[in-house]
Amino acid sequence: MSAQAELPRRSKYCGEFREEHVGQECCVMGWVHSYRDHGGIIFIDLRDRTGLVQIVADPSNDPDAHAKAERVRSEWVVAAVGRVRPRSEETINPKLDTGQVEIITDRIEILTEAETPPFPVDAAEEMDESLRLKWRFIDLRRPQMLERLRKRHEVVLSARNYLSEQGFWEIETPMLINSSPEGARDFLVPSRMAPGHFYALPQSPQLLKQTLMASGVDRYFQMARCLRDEDLRADRQPEHTQIDIEMSFATQEQVLETVEGLIRHIYQEAKGIELPEPFPRMTYAEAMLTYGSDKPDLRFGLEIQEVTDVVAKSDFRVFTETIDKGGRVRAINVKGGAKFSRSQLDNLQPKARELGGKGAAYIIYEPDGTWRSPLLKYFPEEVLEELRETLGGEPGDLFVFGADDAKALAPFLGRLRLHLAELAGLPGETDAVKPLWVVDFPVFEQDEETGNWQPMHHAFTMPRPDCLDTMEDDPGAVIGQLYDLVVNGAELGSGSIRIHDPAIQQRVFKIVGIDEEEADRKFSYLLRAFRYGAPPHGGIALGIDRLIMQLVGAKSIREVIAFPKTATGADLLMDAPGPVDEAQLEELHIRVVE
Ligand code: AMO
Ligand code: AMP
Repeated sequence: MSAQAELPRRSKYCGEFREEHVGQECCVMGWVHSYRDHGGIIFIDLRDRTGLVQIVADPSNDPDAHAKAERVRSEWVVAAVGRVRPRSEETINPKLDTGQVEIITDRIEILTEAETPPFPVDAAEEMDESLRLKWRFIDLRRPQMLERLRKRHEVVLSARNYLSEQGFWEIETPMLINSSPEGARDFLVPSRMAPGHFYALPQSPQLLKQTLMASGVDRYFQMARCLRDEDLRADRQPEHTQIDIEMSFATQEQVLETVEGLIRHIYQEAKGIELPEPFPRMTYAEAMLTYGSDKPDLRFGLEIQEVTDVVAKSDFRVFTETIDKGGRVRAINVKGGAKFSRSQLDNLQPKARELGGKGAAYIIYEPDGTWRSPLLKYFPEEVLEELRETLGGEPGDLFVFGADDAKALAPFLGRLRLHLAELAGLPGETDAVKPLWVVDFPVFEQDEETGNWQPMHHAFTMPRPDCLDTMEDDPGAVIGQLYDLVVNGAELGSGSIRIHDPAIQQRVFKIVGIDEEEADRKFSYLLRAFRYGAPPHGGIALGIDRLIMQLVGAKSIREVIAFPKTATGADLLMDAPGPVDEAQLEELHIRVVE
C-alpha cells in the first residue's frame, strides 16, 4: 500500500476555508500554485477549482512535512494534512476568500510531480493564443477559465430543468445522418460497409426535430451538437452547441413566449438580471433601415436617419449625384462627437472604405452653435438648419453621412454605426442587457451573382398566410414566420414556424430551385412524414456558445469552449485534423488525391 492510500479523505476544497473553521483538523489536495521559503518556514499556496489556501510547513512543528514541502515545485499535486489556524494580523490577505486563515501542516504527501509548465498558470492570459490552445489543460487551470466552464454547466442545467418543467422532452438525434439543410458545407464520414457512400454530420437536427413532431412528441429539446464546415469568425466554430427546441400546435407567439421565459430564467439564475417582459420587437425591415443590421445592438442609440430630401438641397455633388441616380443619403448623429480628434475624423474616410462604403462625410455642430466641416461651402445655412432639425442636433454633435444605393447603404451604415459607437466609447462599462426579437424576415433572398432565390433561413419556413397566394410572383416580398433572438448585437437564436403542408413545401422548394429528385434524395423522410399527418409546428435554436459569451462577457467564442478550434479549424491540443493510416483509408474505400 502506498502512503497515498492511507491519506484521510479530503475535507474541503481549497477555496472554502474561513474563520469559522479555525481549530478544525483538515486534509486538502490540489496544485502547488506558488511556494515561498521564509527563513525556514515554507508557505505553499495550494490551488483547486475553488481557489487558493495557504499551507504552512514549519520545521519546528513537523520536520518531515517541512522536508517534503522543500521539494515541491509549481504545479505539483500534493495533499496536506493539518489544522486550520487564524493568520496573524499582518499576514491577513484581504484579496483571498481564504485570506483570514491558513493551514499549519504536519503531513505533506506528494501525489504527483510535474514538469515545469511552458508558462505559469497565472500568466496564461498574456500568452499567444496558439500556445494556450496547445497547452489547454494548463490554460484551463486559471480560475477565470474554470469559472466559465462552471457557468456553462449551470446555464445548460438550468435550461434543461426549465424546459423539462415546461413539458419538453430531451431527445437525442443521431450524429451520422445524411445532409441537413443549414446552408453550410457538410462534414462527411465515409461508410466502410457501403463503399462510396457517406454519412453527413448534422449541421443541426432540423429535419429530425420536425420528424419528431410528426411522431407526436409535441415538445422536444436537445443540447444539440451541430457541425458545419464554414469559414470561422470570432463567434463561429465548426462545432457548436444549440439549445434546440421544437413545439407542436404552437403559433409564433407561443414560441416567442416560451423562449423569452427560458432566457429570462437563465439571466435571472446566471446573473441575477431581470430582463424586460415582453422583449421588445422590431421587424427586419425596420432593423435594416434604422440600424443597418438584422441584429441591432440597442445598448446605444446612434440610429440611422434618412436625410436624402434635405441634402438634395445642398451643392455637394457626391450627394446630389447619388440622389440623381436613385440612391440615398443617410446620417448618424453622434451625440457629443464634436470632440472627436482631428485624426479620428480624418480616419473616417479610409475606415468607411474598409467597411464597404464609399465614404463618410461629416458635419460638426460645435458647442458654440457654429458649424465645422470640409463640406461647409456646399451647404447653405438653411440646409444646415434643416439638417439639425431632422437629426435632432444639439451643440456638440457630429453628423456622419453615407451616400449610396439603398441596398448597399444599409449594411455599410450598420457597420459604421458600430465603429462610431466604439470611437465614442459606447456602450461603456455598463452591465446593460438589451434583448430584442427581430421578426418578419423575408423567406427568400436573392443570390447576387446568380440571381437565384435561396432561403434566408432554411427551406422549411412557413410564409406568412397573407403572402402565400402571391409567393411565386415576387419571392422577394414574401415575409416568413421567422424570428431571431438578438442580445446586445449578437444573434443568439433563430427559428421559425415550419411548413407542415406538403403542397406548400413543394412550392417553396421550387422557388429555391430544389427539384423533386434533390428533395427526394435529401429530405424524402420528412416529406413522407408530412404526408402521413404532421401537426402545425415551429421552433428555434439558441446558440449556447454565444449565450455564454454574453453571460461572461467573452470577446471570442473560444473562451467559452473547453477545447475549441482555431480559425483554420485546427485543434492544437490533439493536433487534429491529422493524417490516417493507409490501411484505414483502404477500409473506407478512399484514396487521397494530392
Ligand atoms: P441557425 O443556423 O440560425 O438555425 O443556428 C441557430 C443559432 O446557433 C448559433 N450558431 C452558431 N454558433 C457558433 N458557431 C456557429 N458556427 C454557429 N452557427 C449557428 C447562433 C444561431 O442563432 N435549425 C435552425 C434553427 C431552427 O430553425 O429551429 C438553425 O440551426 O446563435
Ligand atoms: P471627395 O469629394 O471624394 O474628396 O469626398 C469629399 C468628402 O465626401 C470626404 O469626406 C468623403 O468621405 C465624403 N464622401 C465621398 N463619397 C461619399 C459617399 N458615397 N458617402 C458619404 N460620404 C462620401
